[in-house]
Amino acid sequence: MNTETAGTMLILRESTASHHRRAEQHEFQQQFVRGTLPRPLYLHWLAQLLHIHAALEAHLDRLVTRNPQLKTVFDDGRRKVGPLRKDLAYLGASADEPALPAAMALVARMDRLASEQPMALLGIFYVLEGSTNGSKFIARKVRPAYELPVTGEGSAYLDPYGDVQPARWQEFKAAVDALNLPATDVAPMVVAAQETFDSIRELGAELLASPAATGSTGR
Ligand code: HEM
Repeated sequence: MNTETAGTMLILRESTASHHRRAEQHEFQQQFVRGTLPRPLYLHWLAQLLHIHAALEAHLDRLVTRNPQLKTVFDDGRRKVGPLRKDLAYLGASADEPALPAAMALVARMDRLASEQPMALLGIFYVLEGSTNGSKFIARKVRPAYELPVTGEGSAYLDPYGDVQPARWQEFKAAVDALNLPATDVAPMVVAAQETFDSIRELGAELLASPAATGSTGR
């Protein structure tokens, strides 16, 4: 085993811990987890995440084609575009609203990384996949808040794995570590992961500052 490269997931976790804390403590996430986020903002959140996941999945598909060993990390069961589209359809919301600046910037960063440091895309994927740890709890608050069924319609993105979420997360961690990535790949992944946490926090701030935050759109 290459000791220089052991423990990619531990490195990612430790080097983004303060970024996670800041994202989690942001007012948007706090309203989300308390179930007090206005419903229109939930719909806009999903529509913005659709931009981000659509771009990420297209890039990951190309990355996996060139590096088939990555299939263990990005398997079809981890796709989020489907759940996002289903949630938006169930909620009667638009799936093609324009991207806000934070989402647009993250998509532009992915495009740049895809040509310059493609393995760094895994750092972005780590943040979004890892967010299923917390969003499972958020889903429990969101369902009663927006009168969504416990069977998951309208909250599939937040809780895509149901009871097997902890097992799916363990599988993800094991699959990433088993790649035994060199430090030259892990370092750009860390930077990309840190920037992704900041982008998601910024997206929450933009949504809170948007007209929809007043709840006056009635959507
Ligand atoms: C109120 C909001 C949030 C709560 C309550 C929350 C909660 C949690 C919890 C309980 C864990 C599991 C920790 C562990 O088992 O060690 C976790 C992990 C994680 N969360 Fe969050 N989270 C929130 C927001 C977010 C956001 C907005 C993101 C990024 C988009 C995010 C990304 C992650 C990641 C990447 C991990 C995995 C960390 C690791 O490497 O172990 N979380 N979160």
